[in-house]
Parts: sequence; structure tokens; C-alpha cells
Amino acid sequence: MIVIGFGVAGAWAAIAAHDAGLGDVAVVSKVHPLRSHSVAAQGGIAAALGNVALADGSSDSWESHVADTLKSGQGLGDPQVVERVCREAPEIIFAYEHMGCHFSRLADGRIAQRPFGGHAAPRAVYAADRTGLVLLHTLYEQALARGIRFYEELVVLRLAGGDEGCEGVLALELGTGRVVGLRSPRTVLATGGHARAWSIHTNTLTNTGDGLAMALRRGAAAVDLEMLQFHPTGLYPSGVLLSEACRGEGGHLVNADDERFMARYAPDKMELAPRDVVTRAEHAEIEAGRGVGDAKEALWLDLRHLGPARIRAALPEVQRLTKSLVGFDPAIDRLPIRPTAHYAMGGLAVDIEGHVLTPGGAPIRGLFAAGECACSGMHGANRLGANSLLEGSVLGRSTGRIAAGEAPALGERARFDDQARSLAEEIDARRGRKGPSPWSLLERLGATMTRWCGVARDGAGLREGLAEVQRLRAEAAISAPVDAEAAFNYELVATYEAENLTLVAEATIRAALAREESRGAHVRRDHPARDPKHDRRVAAFLEGDGQVTISSMPLRRERP
Ligand code: FUM
Repeated sequence: MIVIGFGVAGAWAAIAAHDAGLGDVAVVSKVHPLRSHSVAAQGGIAAALGNVALADGSSDSWESHVADTLKSGQGLGDPQVVERVCREAPEIIFAYEHMGCHFSRLADGRIAQRPFGGHAAPRAVYAADRTGLVLLHTLYEQALARGIRFYEELVVLRLAGGDEGCEGVLALELGTGRVVGLRSPRTVLATGGHARAWSIHTNTLTNTGDGLAMALRRGAAAVDLEMLQFHPTGLYPSGVLLSEACRGEGGHLVNADDERFMARYAPDKMELAPRDVVTRAEHAEIEAGRGVGDAKEALWLDLRHLGPARIRAALPEVQRLTKSLVGFDPAIDRLPIRPTAHYAMGGLAVDIEGHVLTPGGAPIRGLFAAGECACSGMHGANRLGANSLLEGSVLGRSTGRIAAGEAPALGERARFDDQARSLAEEIDARRGRKGPSPWSLLERLGATMTRWCGVARDGAGLREGLAEVQRLRAEAAISAPVDAEAAFNYELVATYEAENLTLVAEATIRAALAREESRGAHVRRDHPARDPKHDRRVAAFLEGDGQVTISSMPLRRERP
């Protein structure tokens, strides 16, 4: 089995497939596994352990976790998926624990839990503010101990196979520039998100929507792409993530008038409202001229009242980041923040087993997806913080197990070899040609998405954005590196990344145009209310000529 990507979803898929008896599991990643983007998930992983008593003396439950998750998803969540993931959450935490994962502790030694936005109980299990990093290190050790093979610095450019399904991957080996083919009846995409399509974002630069774009080219559908989460606390101006743990630990959001403005938008939950609510509130404050900073496009995150000891213990990464990036110490200074593109609720349409689906709902043979590149229906229109590490872990694991149990037949070896040869020729031609710089295309893409498809959108702006993204997509198709070097030609890789990200961006804008209502993370200025006629998934797919087309897929409403 081939797993592309080693965030928590890919890691669990690989480990679970191995433990289900598959002897030959390989992970392919364009970066070192410990550079995968899950390391940047800071604040926690949600699970109703009930380790912290509630004010009324009751204890947390998986049913309450389900209710919060479905409420936050605003009618687009899949109840079966949500129930499965929330029910299995405590068990996956204990699985991490048994693997040796170092979680933060309560005074009595039990696993600590902190509040997170939209969760009715302190439910985020954490390791200070380095949770994803600690989880991924734990999983990497486990994978190495099992002899799972890693192919690092191998950039997958194509899914191999024919109309009948996926038969492995064709990749560029960064160190040599040669094409490497890995043939397998099972391929799991765990390639992460694509918030890098915006210029202000929390993502690693490698999050270029590669898995999503490659599967679209193989006939898959992508759903809910218009649902892109803007995290409320990106450091100003860069957008680098300052964890929701800041608000979970009791941080305040303050405007230019020194007001805790959330009192106006969510008087009960205040800063612990779900992310879509807090982000919209920040946007409204900035639009009303109550922003701070020279351009008045930031707000303050105030942690000073927590005291230096709590900040050092619970938020060391936030303190390190803000000191080194903007010279502010949260124990002494207020921190300038702004909404920042963070997480794709949408992604490849998958069933509960992780099979990638066509627009007609049929599984593509041999192709699976888990984690942020997939849309399982867990998050609906707005993801709750700490639910992504959870979903990636639980569904990554089950997808690995399911994939291990299926063994579709492979087609002709000759066709695979032909596809590898033709990719090698294509790469040679690309290295030798002159064309637009992919770096500058990616920069223009970020500016376009931020301007026209940001926190609040409207039809006219989205149409402007679509025209520009289509121009960028056409330019990406002829983009070229400045030199023809074979080894470590990152600009050559960027030509493929620009093609992938412009494709995903076009599909996103088309989906945002199709959803003529406001719901969760999708705010249409020209359609401000939620509209039940949009109780459906907006689906994007590619026609044979490369045209992105929009249709819809049904929602599942019934509980298991
Ligand atoms: O804010 C955070 O720590 C991010 C966590 C998440 O996106 O779930």
C-alpha cells in the first residue's frame, strides 16, 4: 500500500494497514515526515474523556461531543461520521497514550483537558501548545519500529492507472530529478489542505492541494470547497497561527476602543464561540473602523492577565513565536492578530470507509483519502477546533484498515511503465522550456483569493476572482523553471504545485458562487441568510477538457 503524506491521517493509515497484516506499506512524502503539517496543530485533540468536571457537577460525554460538532457544522455534517469519530475519540487518545505520547497532566496525574471554542466541555487533550508535534513524533517512532518504508523528498505528480482505477503513483525524486514509479493496488491520499492558496494563511508552503488536484484529474469529486475556515487568531501581519489554546486558556479579544467586542456577538460564549462566529465578529470590527495598528486591520489578543508562569507552561510555542516574529512577549504585550486562512472543511468526496468517490457517488477502485484532503462530512460548514487531529487520527486509522482488507487486481504492467516514461518526457520538456515563473503565479493567486474569496464574499467579487484564477491556471499550465537542473529543482516542482493550487482555487471559487447563502465559514454579503434550499453538498469535478464543473451531492441525515 502507498500512503501519500505523513500527517496524523497518513501516519495512522500506514500503521493501521501494517497492523492489519499488510507487510508492504510505503509512505511517500515531499518533505521529511516530521515536517508534515500536523506538527503545526497546536492547541489540542478533542475527546470526551470527562477529566475536568463541569460547573453543574456533570461529566462530558461523546453524545455531547456529537451534538456540538453537528451544531457547528450547521446542517452540512454527516451524522454517521460524526458519531463514529466522537465515539472513538477517547479510545484513540488511550492508543496515543499507550504508544508513549506525553500529554499535559492534571495535578492528580490524569490527562489534562482545556476548553476550546464551541465545545460544551473542556475537551481538548493537549501537550502544552505543541499537540500535533507530539502526536506526530509518537506516530513516527511507531512507524519506524514497524519497518514501514519512507520515501522522502519524492514529489508525487500523477496517480497511475486507467479508467477502472488507481494503480499507484508516479513521482519526481527531488535529489536526482528522475521519475520513480511505485505500483500498488491501494493508494491512500493524506496530502493535507490547501489554505496556501490565500496570501494570509497558517499553512506550510507545501500545502498546495496536490492530492486533491491529482484525484480530480482521475475523475473524483470534491465537495464543500467553499467552506474554508479562517482562524480568528493569525499573528498580524503574517497570519502565522496563534493557537486557539490562547482563548481556551482565557485570552481576551480587544478592539481599538479597549472593548472585549465578543460581548456584542456572542455574549455567553465570548471568545469561546466557534471559529466562524469569532472570525465574522473580527471582520465586522475591522470593517467598522475599530481595528488596531497603522492600517487598522488587526485586533488585540490579550493574554497578560494569565500571568507569566501560566503562559510559559501552557503556551510556550505562542510565546516563542511572537517574541521571535514580532518582538512581542504575551506576558508583557498585547498581540496583534487577524483572521487567517487555516483549514479546508471541504475536500475529496469519500465514503465512511475512505473510498474516493466520483460525482455519481461510485468509489474509484484502489483510491482512498483521509485527513484534510478528504471531506468525510465530519466538519460540515465550520470545524470545531481540536476536531481535525481527531478526525485525521480516527478516520486515518479506519481507512488504513479498510484499504488493507481490499486487494483490487492491477492492470497491465506495460501501461504503468508507459505512463512513467511519458511523465519523464513531460518533465524534460518542462525543464527545457521558457514560461512564466510559478513563484510569481502563486503570489498572485494568494492576493486574488484573499481579495475576492476571503472571510466575506459576494457574487460580483467572486466572478472577478474566477476570471483572474482562470488566467493564472492557464499560465500555470505553461509555467517553467528558470534553469534546467535535474537535482533539487524546486522551481520545477513549483510548476506542478501552481497547476494543482490554481485548479483547486478555481473549483473553490466556483463552489462559492454556487452556494448563494451564508452558512458557517461561507459568508456571502449578497446572500446574508442561511437558505434550506442549499441543504446539499456543492460538488466540483473536471470535464475531459479540463473545465471545472459544479454539481451537487446529497447530504446524509440519518444517524447510524
Ligand atoms: O488553534 C489551534 O491550536 C489549532 C487547532 C486546530 O485547528 O484544531
